[in-house]
Amino acid sequence: MFRDLASSNMNGVVLVCALAGLLAVTHAADTLRFAAMGDWGTGGSTQKKVAKSMGDWMAKYKGEFIVTLGDNFYNDGANSVKDPQFDKKWKDVYTARSLQKTWYITLGNHDHHRDNAKNEVAYSKVNSRWYLPTNYYSITKKVGRKSVLFIMMDTTPLSRRRDRRQLDWIKSQLQNSKADWIIMAGHHPVFSTGSHGSSSTMYRDVLPLMEKYKVALYLAGHDHNYEHLRVSRTLSGKSPITDLVVQGGGGKSRRTTRGTRGKEQMTKHGVKSYKFDAAYGFCGVELTETRLYVKFIDEKGRTAYSFKKSNPRK
Ligand SMILES: [Fe+2]
Repeated sequence: MFRDLASSNMNGVVLVCALAGLLAVTHAADTLRFAAMGDWGTGGSTQKKVAKSMGDWMAKYKGEFIVTLGDNFYNDGANSVKDPQFDKKWKDVYTARSLQKTWYITLGNHDHHRDNAKNEVAYSKVNSRWYLPTNYYSITKKVGRKSVLFIMMDTTPLSRRRDRRQLDWIKSQLQNSKADWIIMAGHHPVFSTGSHGSSSTMYRDVLPLMEKYKVALYLAGHDHNYEHLRVSRTLSGKSPITDLVVQGGGGKSRRTTRGTRGKEQMTKHGVKSYKFDAAYGFCGVELTETRLYVKFIDEKGRTAYSFKKSNPRK
């Protein structure tokens, strides 16, 4: 029928093009893809290699946005909205066309140095691709007919002083959400066998919420490696709910040393580390209505590790 319409007149050609476009849009919306990485803002050669690899992946798979996992500018965050680091360590590094998308920012401990976090928030008004309206926030995306809630935390005040106000906000976001999928992101890992190790506020205060509200994935940075962990003994005694990912290989120096912080808690929760490597890279995340795929991709574009899961909220 389409061929007949197309051959009959120019309006038919327009109609076919419009339908083809509509089909393409529908297809794209059935899969949501994004890249995530932390510990990146050095302006050095390794950051640039990861940037190239990430740009290639985003172009090949039509990634829609980027999530940063903190430590955006070493060593002390950004001094003002006019700090040249926004150019030298961000705009001039992530130059690929595929990376000219919205960057959903989370803050790391280095971004908080000298009370500088407010400057990264203010920069949102200078460049709309830098999305950080407040220190912590949430966004909602669609995949097919399903909705995805992203909760972007500011884990430095959580870790340092058990920021009650933010904890209440996180709880209300989770409690009130009707989203089909929930993904959380922040800087400090819940559990990590890397050099910094686990974060007590994260496993005492945030992990129970992740389990209760069936958060599918928590993306963190801080340790300069990648790691995939799962809690086998959940509060409800059910099978693993939240997959914990550390991806702090965005460009800062690699750390091969392992840490022991939180080891007793890891034993208590039956935490298993499935993969650890002190490598540079980023996460390529792919979501459909029913499945989540996470890939660890190195600075040469090689997939070093991947896992998939179904939605724990269903
Ligand atoms: Fe950090």
